[in-house]
Amino acid sequence: MDGDVRINPYLAGNFAPVRSEDDFDLTVKGEIPAELRGALFRIGPNPQFEPRDPNHHWFVGDGMVHGFYVQDGKVAYRNRYVRTPKWQVEHEAGRSLFGGFNPMLNDPSVMGKDSGVANTNIVWHAGRLLALEEGHMPTAMDPRTLSTEGYVDAYRARTTAHPKIDPVSGEMVWFGYGVGETMLSAGMSYGVTDRNGQVVRRDDFEAPFASMVHDFMVTENHVLFPILPLTGSLKRAMTGLPAFAWEPEKGSYVGVMRRDGDVSQIRWFNTEACYVFHPLNSWEEGDKLFCDVMRYPVAPLFPKADGSPGDRAAARLVRWTFDLSGASDAIKEEPLDDLDGEFPRVDPRAETRKHRHGWYAADPTSSGTIKQCAIAHLDLASGQRQLYELANGDLTSEPVFAPRPGGTEEGDGWLTAVVWRAAENRSDLLVFEARDVAKGPIATAELPRRVPFGFHGNWAALD
Ligand SMILES: [Fe+2]
Repeated sequence: MDGDVRINPYLAGNFAPVRSEDDFDLTVKGEIPAELRGALFRIGPNPQFEPRDPNHHWFVGDGMVHGFYVQDGKVAYRNRYVRTPKWQVEHEAGRSLFGGFNPMLNDPSVMGKDSGVANTNIVWHAGRLLALEEGHMPTAMDPRTLSTEGYVDAYRARTTAHPKIDPVSGEMVWFGYGVGETMLSAGMSYGVTDRNGQVVRRDDFEAPFASMVHDFMVTENHVLFPILPLTGSLKRAMTGLPAFAWEPEKGSYVGVMRRDGDVSQIRWFNTEACYVFHPLNSWEEGDKLFCDVMRYPVAPLFPKADGSPGDRAAARLVRWTFDLSGASDAIKEEPLDDLDGEFPRVDPRAETRKHRHGWYAADPTSSGTIKQCAIAHLDLASGQRQLYELANGDLTSEPVFAPRPGGTEEGDGWLTAVVWRAAENRSDLLVFEARDVAKGPIATAELPRRVPFGFHGNWAALD
């Protein structure tokens, strides 16, 4: 030992957890429109205690919900842990008991116990706030107090953190992967929750191979399951190699079925090896399905199958076209944008239908990593792209659209983003006119402390 202390990157800077649960009235600069009324909910990993794993991964920290409640031009903030069974047992012990991705590091007292962290997405559907993480069932939260109500047992098994809500039918369409004894299986499920919050179907099928299926695509009548070669392998994990790893020789598959169809009717399309954490949106015209996705040439954040470090990579928007009437199972791919980005979002009123507008966190410096130093707005009708660039090392969260109440035109509303002010080590909530982000925020709500980098957020009207 030479005294060199290696700090885990996910416990440093604005990745580091905040350990207090607070209620703040924020200082607003500029003017928040009176019509903007509701809540922005965000969620991310925030380990309650020092992790046991020296290679602690960002994805396994306990979920913490951050609520920004907007009314009458004012903003109130509240953050609370999701009190999962894991959080409870560790809270009682006063230390970490679970080993994250490596169950060999678990304390013997929690072997085989529920390790759910509910840290990935927070979704408002059918009057219910759900904290989601793809390895477990949804956890219901009280939208005002952010107290944890517990698992929604009707989901029965692992459920994605990226459901899609059909703005016309009100249905929430979802899937599960790694369904079965181990998360490292090829077992999948397709599921639907109706507009009243009732789970009305969950049907199981097998993917071509076990992989990390972070998100999927849904159109008016179809659902698409991407099976990309960030593979899962229990056999590999048992030999001390990575449980999830980049294995490009497996190629990429996307299974297509009708939303009202049977899982036995899935047709598998294919393309070259790539990874997609997040699609922007998908729609259909005649026999063609279109998916605009943030595509990585290699999976970032994960090692190779031999355990060696993975390559750095950045994503760009591409359009995938699936021709259901054609004989070919090849996916047509074309570039949509030339800027590195992540966390693409649409106006939720356009989800599953053809969209005009998209927003995402962008990296105009082309650092080759997921450096979110700008907010981009893409107008696919005009072909124009607007950019709001942050300065001084500031970084943004996923931008989230809030519709104007009573409005129907896609893009009519505001864009919200939580920005980390690097120099002050503090965060701000920014509000933009959604179709004019380049002019900068129309209002800023200042927090007295930072909100750690997290994953996803959604706007809820809360009426
Ligand atoms: Fe995600």
